[in-house]
Amino acid sequence: MMKRENFGSQFGAIMAMTGSAVGLGNLWRFPYMVGVYGGAAFVLVYIVVVFLLCLPILNAEMIVGRRSQTNAFGAFKVLAPGTGWKWVGVLMIFTPLVVLSYYSVIGGWSLEYLYKAVSLDFTASAHTRAELDSIFSGFISSVWAPIIGHTVFLGVTALIVVLGVKQGIEKFGKLMMPLLFLLVILIAVRSATLPGAGEGFAYLFKPDFSKITPAVCAAALGQGFFSLSVGFGIMLTYSSYMSRKDSIGRSSLLIAVSDTMFALIASCAIMPAVFAFGLSPEAGPSLLFEVLPFIFSQMPLGGVVSIVFFVALLVAALTSSVSILEVGVAYLVEEKHISRKRAALVIFLGTWLLGILCSLSFGPLSGVKIFGDILFDFLDMFTSNFLMTLGALLIVIFVGWKMGRPDVRDEFTNGGTLSGSGRVFGPMFFVIRYLAPVAILVIMVSNIFA
Ligand code: PFF
Repeated sequence: MMKRENFGSQFGAIMAMTGSAVGLGNLWRFPYMVGVYGGAAFVLVYIVVVFLLCLPILNAEMIVGRRSQTNAFGAFKVLAPGTGWKWVGVLMIFTPLVVLSYYSVIGGWSLEYLYKAVSLDFTASAHTRAELDSIFSGFISSVWAPIIGHTVFLGVTALIVVLGVKQGIEKFGKLMMPLLFLLVILIAVRSATLPGAGEGFAYLFKPDFSKITPAVCAAALGQGFFSLSVGFGIMLTYSSYMSRKDSIGRSSLLIAVSDTMFALIASCAIMPAVFAFGLSPEAGPSLLFEVLPFIFSQMPLGGVVSIVFFVALLVAALTSSVSILEVGVAYLVEEKHISRKRAALVIFLGTWLLGILCSLSFGPLSGVKIFGDILFDFLDMFTSNFLMTLGALLIVIFVGWKMGRPDVRDEFTNGGTLSGSGRVFGPMFFVIRYLAPVAILVIMVSNIFA
């Protein structure tokens, strides 16, 4: 049998997994969700939900990956041979590929905005909000420019994956994640020193408890899954490359802490500036592409800051898209025995075509509606609200009810050798077995009727 490649070190594994977690979900989705769902109240609920629920679910996914030492499809065949659980594996391969097709379209937008920032488009002359709004909507509804961005973004993603686990994914993550952290801090410092920034900080950190509603909790859980990349088979695949000596508990805690810190720092980079310029934080998904360029065009040093910001956004998006592509590649290489290069090409082509349709759904195909939504919105909604929560639900049921407590404990504590992991195992297993399935079901039902 072919020898499996593994991550070279625990640090490399953690950086690659943090690279998967930290992405557009932190820099683009989290800040706009904070704006839409009432500021600090959402931030508070989000932090509780991430550490109480998402972290144990992340552990569950990592336990399946490292125990089975194989891809998301094979894992269920290894751990529950001859059962219907392998269909969960099919879901775990399918969901990320759909996500990648539209994620790459937003990656392409980031590329275009980096190009605009480098050409000093935002800062050479003053722009009104209305002008920037029409630049953005004109761009995403055009045919060629967004498709070119999507193609380049997906192509670079595929190239990194072809280089392999150690030489491609791990090296890229180790280099890029610390750089990304520095870049985001730099922008947050610039933003915090703007006159009037204090109001933005109060908005982020002084909760109005009356704003905590069931909808806020559901949104926070959905965001937690998206942001930590759980429920997609991604963390499962990456942890199958982890050494048996590494601690799953410690690694997952570090991933969750860094991912949350990135989301908070990104919000500290965006919200204070939004308030300093008297804008509304409730712009929704366009916050990043319409509101931020306006801020850049108004602030001293805005040209430099905009370049730094879009470089950071692109790096974050790439380390995540690499992880999404790897799920499918690992499956094709290990189950269908084709080469890494060919596997990456097959997945590139499939997601590229679907991505083109997603991109065109903002323009020429905007009349084609699926359940009332354009293709892009439908895929985003269907994967994050339904497929991802279903994936997470099946994972916790598998680990909590099917694998058996002794096996789960054995994997989590490295055969009983990690005493710290041994101490937290009881409460963590309780969450996986009882609390998480109930919470996920409630969210799924509330999403269906929302
Ligand atoms: N977790 C990443 C983010 O926050 O952007 C991206 C992500 C990866 C989302 C994988 C979804 C996914 F399937």
